[in-house]
Amino acid sequence: MQDIIYLDHAATSWPKPPAVAEAMVNALQQSGANPGRGSHRMAVSASRVLFGARKSIANLLGIHNANDISFTANTTEALNIAIQGWVRHGDHVIATMAEHNSVRRPLEYLRRTRCVEVDYVGVDQNGDVDLAQMQRMFKPNTRLVVCTHSSNLLGSILPIGEIALLAHKHKATLLVDAAQSAGILPLNVRQLEIDMLAFPGHKGLLGPQGTGGLYIGPELDVQPLIHGGTGSQSEAIEQPLIRPDRYEAGTPNTVGIAGLEAGVRHVSSLDPAQIYQHEWGLIQHMMNGLSSIKGIHMLGPKPDQPRTGLLSFTLEGCDSAQLAFQLDRRFGIAVRAGFHCSPLAHESAGTTASGAVRASVGYSTTKDEVNALIEAVQELANME
Ligand code: ALA
Repeated sequence: MQDIIYLDHAATSWPKPPAVAEAMVNALQQSGANPGRGSHRMAVSASRVLFGARKSIANLLGIHNANDISFTANTTEALNIAIQGWVRHGDHVIATMAEHNSVRRPLEYLRRTRCVEVDYVGVDQNGDVDLAQMQRMFKPNTRLVVCTHSSNLLGSILPIGEIALLAHKHKATLLVDAAQSAGILPLNVRQLEIDMLAFPGHKGLLGPQGTGGLYIGPELDVQPLIHGGTGSQSEAIEQPLIRPDRYEAGTPNTVGIAGLEAGVRHVSSLDPAQIYQHEWGLIQHMMNGLSSIKGIHMLGPKPDQPRTGLLSFTLEGCDSAQLAFQLDRRFGIAVRAGFHCSPLAHESAGTTASGAVRASVGYSTTKDEVNALIEAVQELANME
């Protein structure tokens, strides 16, 4: 698509590096068989696609054994496997007000169906989590702490290392939602002592939609969510224990995963620390430009503070959905408006009634594109 200024990377990254589409076409043409289901050369070639991608992701995320990564269709599926497969009847779970519905809804489902107790730790307007409150929430039956690495509304970065220490001190397991951080922030599972990590393939890792994954620490026996054919131990009636087969029943998205590996290679060559610096600089520029517009209210961390490459804002007297609509129709600028599947974060930000417009940048976003957004918002504000 031509003539679009794409500022919706937090929903999915676009454009992808050209190598992503090339790898997908190549996989379809050269490795189009079913991986793990046959020993002929094309099946082996397909298995190599999965093996290579797992290895690249393990290297990027500091994961010791690549087989501890299972591929999923998206972060939501990964979070559901982790939450539903780990939390038992009567357990207690701690999450935060920054969580996306892909955490909140499975937890609320378990509250209804497994008598699970769920507490949400408060997050302030800057997106900072109240660690003292979290500390007080632990109970003898706390089984899991679930925490997003970065809020998809506020852009704040949560202190995963400190939360891991707290969780482990209380013998709980930590599940991190890396939907807004994998490939975007330096992220090392071993250094941060993360027990489970759910990540998208199609956002910061620059792969296609329909890809994602879940890392499960080797010592954790998480029950599989999907049971079925794995191409291994076919005589057994139970899902195999071996990984990744245990969590990967059914034919995988080999073509998508080939694209994902190409995306991960691109991210690794750029380096997430550099990507973060690039995106942070663009958001600072955006904040600076928007701050001079009358009626603009910006959410999340204050200028100069750490944050990921997104900025949510409201314009006084202008409905956020209308604003996003006008940005698209009149200026060709793509942003996301509304509630971003994160109603609790909107509650923290005080935007439950208004929603907000979210502009999010990526590795390929330029300063000119950010300038175009600032000028467009200025023009729309002048009309109010
Ligand atoms: N969770 C994605 C977003 O924040 C889709 O837009």
